[in-house]
Parts: sequence; structure tokens; C-alpha cells
Amino acid sequence: MNKKTVKDIDLKNKRVLMRVDFNVPMADGKVTDDKRIKAALPTIKYVLEQGASIILMSHLGRPKSASDLTFSLRAASETLSALLATPVKMAPDCVGSEVEKMAKELKAGDVLMLENTRFHAGEEKNDLDLAKQMAALGDVYVNDAFGSAHRAHSSTEGIARFLPAVSGFLMEQELEYLGRAVANPVHPYIAILGGAKISDKILVVETLLSKCDKLIIGGGMANTFLAAQGLNMQDSLVEAESLELAKSIMSKSKGKLILPVDAVIADKFEAEANTQIVDVDKIPAGWRMLDVGPKTLELYKTSLDGVKLVVWNGPVGVFEMPKFAEGTFALARMLAESGAVTVIGGGDSASAVKKAGVAKQMTHVSTGGGASLEFLEGKELPGVAALLDK
Ligand code: 3PG
Repeated sequence: MNKKTVKDIDLKNKRVLMRVDFNVPMADGKVTDDKRIKAALPTIKYVLEQGASIILMSHLGRPKSASDLTFSLRAASETLSALLATPVKMAPDCVGSEVEKMAKELKAGDVLMLENTRFHAGEEKNDLDLAKQMAALGDVYVNDAFGSAHRAHSSTEGIARFLPAVSGFLMEQELEYLGRAVANPVHPYIAILGGAKISDKILVVETLLSKCDKLIIGGGMANTFLAAQGLNMQDSLVEAESLELAKSIMSKSKGKLILPVDAVIADKFEAEANTQIVDVDKIPAGWRMLDVGPKTLELYKTSLDGVKLVVWNGPVGVFEMPKFAEGTFALARMLAESGAVTVIGGGDSASAVKKAGVAKQMTHVSTGGGASLEFLEGKELPGVAALLDK
């Protein structure tokens, strides 16, 4: 990575203002998945070991007003405190005189969590006055929030104009592994893309096609490709407006695309729908494709034989419903057994490998959904661009 990291600067007795992505799932006021909090621990611990104090900042959700305390980071700070086995003080806001006083009083080893940055409307507008007020709290800025690095907001981009700005270890690790998908990948390299729509992933399809040896397309996206080949997909989700795009991608793909050959189909989009397995050219009227079938899984298995690098973004079926989960879970198990470097995009693919029970066997599971997608599109992420070059 060509950006400076926490290892490149002196942290002793510094107040380190660190952007993390604690935008975590919550239910009944409790954190229900602490993956993102755990992922920030190596940098937090390292900074504390260097004799610094830490001021953590993050957004949580998309609050409409500052008074909506369902979006408070207090629960996340409690989870962090338990994981660190250290008290974590909670600030009432992310800027302002009271917060400045709390920040000034910090001693080496202390941890302070600021309140949701999105309680200020300026955050998402990358308001530089807000960024300056945030910057006033610390001596150096560390960005470890890979999941938010595609956002040019006050706490991810603007702030880096006011303080020496470096990356944390999670950010570094994400860029290193996801970077393998787009810069000098090892071969054979198979990319897998799923999810509902081609229109959401067109740039990723194009970038990955130019780098990989084979591109497996599954999920709702595959329906549009199959329809573009002239198949009648019946009630399956097909993006009529993307048919021409799908045709043009196929004509440029030099035989790299692997599309489903059979499907688990359903008579309704419901968990308890009736199902059957048919070849993709034999979907009866009134039925829709919701997962890939066993012949397709055989095809995946053969394609993955001897592969050295796999990058996966997006499930190949509606894995949230058990009747349509087997394709995605079987694929996750194949990756776990492939012996290849396996890099999993965040969001749905990350929860799929977790649900399949193989997350630990993957080389890297990204903590960023939108961020990993934009990175795989080949875009420079504003939160990374803003950091100091090595
Ligand atoms: C995410 O969960 O993808 C990040 O935390 C960014 O959240 P956002 O999409 O609300 O900006």
C-alpha cells in the first residue's frame, strides 16, 4: 500500500483521533454482530500500546435527527469496552466544548467514543467546518473505517485536510486483499458475482472480466444474461433495460462467463413456495428462478479445480430463504475446500459465508459492503485517497 500507516508515525503521548466503522447491526438497543468492532481491535490495541490515548469516531445507520437515540453509539462503546476489557468513556456528541474538554483530559491508555457523526447534517456533506471541529480533538488522524472509505464525509475525507492522516491495520489489510483482485492477480483466478441486478454491478463485471480467467455469474443477475441469450425466464427477475448491456458483455467476454445451466425454481417469491429443479431453458409459465441447481454446482466445482485466487461478491440464490440457500452455501463450502486465496466482499457475501459456517476458512472476508464493491470497480476510495502517501 502506498499510504502511511500507524506504524509510520510517532504516537507516544498523542491523542489519536481514529475513524472506525461501527455501523453495526442492532436489535433492542444491543449490538447483534460485533465483527466490525472486533476488526478494529488490532489498531486500537496497537495505538494504546504506543502510549497514546484514543478518540474513536463513527457513524451508525442513517439517522434523520440528532435526538433519535436508537442511532446512539453507546451500545457499540459498551461492546468495545467488553472486548478490550478497558473502560470506554462515551461523549455526548462528536464535536463541541464539552467533548473538547473530555478529549483534553485524556491520559495515555484512555479510550473515548464520540457520538454518531451523522447526528450532524454537515457530516454527509463533507462540511469542512465540522471536519475542523472534529480535527481539533486530536493530534493525529487514523482511518481504519474501510467500510466507510467510499464516502467523502467530514469524518472520512474532510478531516484529513486538518491533521496528519494515516491508515489503520484493518484498512491496510482490506486494501491488500481486495487489491489482489484488481492489481496483478495470481492465476488461475475466478471471480464470482451474484446479487439481484446487473445495473448495480456493471462496473465490477467489466473490471473483473478484464482481470480474471473465468467469471461465474449467479443470482438475479444471471437471469438477465440468460434472457439476453433468448431463454424464456418466465416470472424470474429480469432487468429488461439491461438486456442489451448483457448481450454486449457476453460478446466481449471471450468465453469467460459461466452462467447457470439449471435452477431451483419456485411458484412464488416466498420461503414456503413450491419448488422444483429444472434446466434453465425449461422454466414453466408462472415459475421463477431463485437458486442455482445441482448441475450448475457441478460446473462450479469443475471450474474451481486448481484455482489459485477466488473473489466473490454477491450470493447466487435467495439464501435468506432456506429452500433457496443451498447453491450459495455449497459454493461457500467449495471455496473453503479450494485451497485458493479466497477474498469475500462484504455485505451479503460476508453473511453467506458466515451462515454456511465457513467464514473462518476464507482468506479474507471484507468488512465493507459498498466500499468493497466500489473498490472492485477500480475506483479510488476518497477515505483512502485523503491519507498521507508513503
Ligand atoms: C456500510 O455499512 O456499508 C458503511 O458503514 C456505510 O454506510 P452507509 O451506506 O450508510 O454510508
